[in-house]
Amino acid sequence: MGESYQVREHDVLIIGAGGAGLRAAIATAERGLSVGIVTKSLLGKAHTVMAEGGIAAAVGNVDPDDSWRQHFIDTMNSGKFLNNWQMVETFTKEAPERVIELEQWGALFNRTPQGRISQRPFGGHTYRRLCHVGDRTGLEMIRTLQEKVLSTGANVYMETTVTKLLKDGSGRVVGALAYTRESGSFVHFKAKAVVMATGGWGRIFKVTSNSWEGTGDGVVLAYDAGAELVDMEMVQFHPTGMVWPPGVRGLLVTEGVRGEGGLLRNSEGERYMERYDPDRMELSTRDVVARANYTEVQEGRGSEHGGVYLDITHLGYEGIMKKLPTMHEQFLKLADIDISREPMEVFPTVHYTMGGIKVDPETCATNVPGLFAAGECAGGLHGANRLGGNSLSDLLVFGRRAGMGAAGYVEENHHGTQIDAGEIRTEIGRVLEPLERPAGGDDESPYLMQQELQEAMMEHANLMRNEDSLMEGLGKILALKDRLPNVKVGGTRLFNPGWHTAQDIRYLIQISEIILRTALDRKERRGAQWRLDYDGPDEELGKINFIVKKDQQGEVGIERREIPPMPEHLSALIEGKVADMAGGEKRGAESQF
Ligand code: FUM
Repeated sequence: MGESYQVREHDVLIIGAGGAGLRAAIATAERGLSVGIVTKSLLGKAHTVMAEGGIAAAVGNVDPDDSWRQHFIDTMNSGKFLNNWQMVETFTKEAPERVIELEQWGALFNRTPQGRISQRPFGGHTYRRLCHVGDRTGLEMIRTLQEKVLSTGANVYMETTVTKLLKDGSGRVVGALAYTRESGSFVHFKAKAVVMATGGWGRIFKVTSNSWEGTGDGVVLAYDAGAELVDMEMVQFHPTGMVWPPGVRGLLVTEGVRGEGGLLRNSEGERYMERYDPDRMELSTRDVVARANYTEVQEGRGSEHGGVYLDITHLGYEGIMKKLPTMHEQFLKLADIDISREPMEVFPTVHYTMGGIKVDPETCATNVPGLFAAGECAGGLHGANRLGGNSLSDLLVFGRRAGMGAAGYVEENHHGTQIDAGEIRTEIGRVLEPLERPAGGDDESPYLMQQELQEAMMEHANLMRNEDSLMEGLGKILALKDRLPNVKVGGTRLFNPGWHTAQDIRYLIQISEIILRTALDRKERRGAQWRLDYDGPDEELGKINFIVKKDQQGEVGIERREIPPMPEHLSALIEGKVADMAGGEKRGAESQF
């Protein structure tokens, strides 16, 4: 007799409990449907909290000239026009409403003297646009959504890891198989629709702001189920992560520091952003500032521990405690640095993945019936480089749309959730394999493989890349892929981190391969894809998204898909033809560095 498993049934299953997953759950539950939220972590703990400095929305509280149009222009400029413009239009129009709604649900934003939600500057945003809660905005957002979602009666399954999406005979996604971390027992979730909201995959790199959850499970589960992925070569290095002590290397130093006037200097005391983007200086876009910081260190003008200096001392203790209390506590506790007296040392850290599951801009439906996606695991909105603060509003705008999309699909489709029972047995066998296979001479440790992979990606798919290095990286990842069947772990199923890592390593390898292959194919410099072997952007490639789909042989298939032309009302904005637009002259010249 095979392994037994529990069965749970919901109308909609949401995988991931960060901002997008929670917002999707609220939207679905509001339609009177039964919702299950599965998270491999704990409720309240998600990478959403690492968007600290604010949520971008053109509410115009401190700069009344701001508008969705200017937010549209800034977002497209920063994304180097690879963005799905329809998503950007929806996003910039709906973000203000979602922020107000969050406030009505209890989020305690900082205030202007007039009592309105305060907004701070951030890189690449023409106006002060970041609504914020000190430097804990993502945390406040999760806290608020969590309370709201619990009031809807949605069921939350914590420490439960999904290993496979399940499809019926006609190719519709009708549930998922998962196991619980506590007992190692399996659960078959039956659902008429599934929303993927699992976040990004920063953990494929050695230095990252992502915690252990950021292994990209959702994007690989969707890819395995036949979903298309877009812009996977685009990985964002946040310009400022901690560098010292070594145990905290990569931990985020919020862009809010630069938003509040933080200055970047090299070991010679020079404000070097003058050389890279003299107009916007420290508030240039993330890709530019990250490359500048990296270059200063590469060229021998780095700080004591291999970073650059970020100085906010002029804000004084009072100002820092009001605007950046988390940064003060973080540096004092972890690095014994009082940032009101001394500069911080910072260096780029992998923070965000612009690419992801390709979705319909209206409903967040993927090309696989019954499967929806939102948040960082979905692609299209941010193009080649995301603006800081756009992620939190992305989670709200498209989390809600994915929830409504899934609800609409369920209301219109009355199919069952029947699958071939043999599929579950096969999957359980696969998941248990690293635990149950007899030990042998060629056993591989998932931890050591993870370490090798993170080092390879750091070396070969860094923020500056070239063909030879990417090829070498791909060779290393394919060698790891060959070793995958030999992964072996000891111990039991109960809270066994080795066993979980044995599951994760498959995702890490698959995503790394896809990133390296698409980065090899995009032969130009554009946003986060900075190829040293090309001089600049390529006009033709500027009209192309790279779409990835598993081919019939199970290999990575890459298609060049033309970006549809923008409609007149949007292209007029970009070309500066809208005379009555507030701030119409501010089209934001882009740095070529
Ligand atoms: O720097 C930050 O506070 C991060 C914000 C974001 O990624 O949007």
